[in-house]
Amino acid sequence: MSGARNMDIKDLGIEMKTIAVLNQKGGVGKTTTVTNTAAALAALGAKVVVIDLDPQAHLTIHLGLEPQSIESGSYRILTQSAKFESEITMVRPNLWLLPANINLVGAESELVSVVGREIILREALQASEEEFDYCLIDCAPSLGLLTLNALAAAEEVLIPLQPHFLALQGFGKLLQTIELVNRRINTGLTVKWILLCMFDSRASLPNEVKSDIERFLHSARGTNSAWAQAQVLPCFIRRNIKLAEAPSYGKTIFEYEENCHGAEDYRKVAEFLHAQYQGQAETGLSEIPLEQEAQEQPVEVTQTTPTDVEPVPTDQASDMQPSETEPVLQPDDTDENREKPPIEIREIQPDESQISDELTPQEKQPDESESDQQQY
Ligand SMILES: Nc1ncnc2c1ncn2[C@@H]1O[C@H](COP(=O)(O)OP(=O)(O)OP(=O)(O)O)[C@@H](O)[C@H]1O
Ligand SMILES: [Mg+2]
Repeated sequence: MSGARNMDIKDLGIEMKTIAVLNQKGGVGKTTTVTNTAAALAALGAKVVVIDLDPQAHLTIHLGLEPQSIESGSYRILTQSAKFESEITMVRPNLWLLPANINLVGAESELVSVVGREIILREALQASEEEFDYCLIDCAPSLGLLTLNALAAAEEVLIPLQPHFLALQGFGKLLQTIELVNRRINTGLTVKWILLCMFDSRASLPNEVKSDIERFLHSARGTNSAWAQAQVLPCFIRRNIKLAEAPSYGKTIFEYEENCHGAEDYRKVAEFLHAQYQGQAETGLSEIPLEQEAQEQPVEVTQTTPTDVEPVPTDQASDMQPSETEPVLQPDDTDENREKPPIEIREIQPDESQISDELTPQEKQPDESESDQQQY
């Protein structure tokens, strides 16, 4: 490992932003998003570290490393108290990687009796946070201990979402988990961004899903939920075969085909995020104007769509009880309902036995990736 020895002192004047890229659904674009957003941020001059917290090690592979030949990385951080700076490697100018290898599969069981096992990554990262502008964490498609470490370390969550008719299945459970982590482990954690990936703006369903999400997010505005400030990113990622090809060459999309739609889209995402965070640093503002967002992206209330939502009161969520379907919530003036939004996602079928009070590992969700990738 080359480590971070030659790292320059960061000079962008922003606090390191730690963003967990998370969706327990498989194949929605998490790794693609981390790789290419990080590469684009690095190209903008930011110092970026990416963390592979998935035993599949796809991020590590995508950035051109062979997990089999890697001994250090996130596994050693989690299980052997290794130092963050000695486990990362510089993979591109301005871009460092904390790699993963297959050993990470065993980390959850090895840590089962370790006190404070949820915050190991956070503590390791704290020692290096002065060195970077951004830290992006690629999570496994599960809500287990590895993901919990990501959520404990992160300030913000970015949820990549593939807008098909099952897109919101499991979304409620994801938010419940984040809410729980927010209450118990990391009070600063917020869901900040939803990024629509593999988007086909010509089809009606993606736009309906987008509207459903926006409607749902608006219902949380002004509440104290962990997703009260969440927004659908104004730039989305089109389906693009080049994005699917680039990982097998160990290249980012900018190295593989810098002028394709995929490169264009991820560049826009990085530029948008960078502008947001730089703006915050300069003005002290913590949020982009939501009113403006509301005007620019009017909420379209659809009557019945495959992703139409049904509510679950948040007090159920907070106790991690099963998200049973309740009658549709009507506006209610009680304080309780003003403070917390409903979690209103259809087709949640959580197996709550898999999330105990300690958030024990959960089975991987079926891979939702689509095989019919075509370029637009
Ligand atoms: N916009 C896109 N257009 C076409 N293919 C894409 C796009 N984004 C990602 N892919 C491809 O879809 C597959 C799944 O993407 P990716 O690996 O990023 O998802 P993931 O959420 O990280 O998956 P997992 O849950 O298994 O970690 C990969 O083969 C990837 O190359
Ligand atoms: Mg992945």
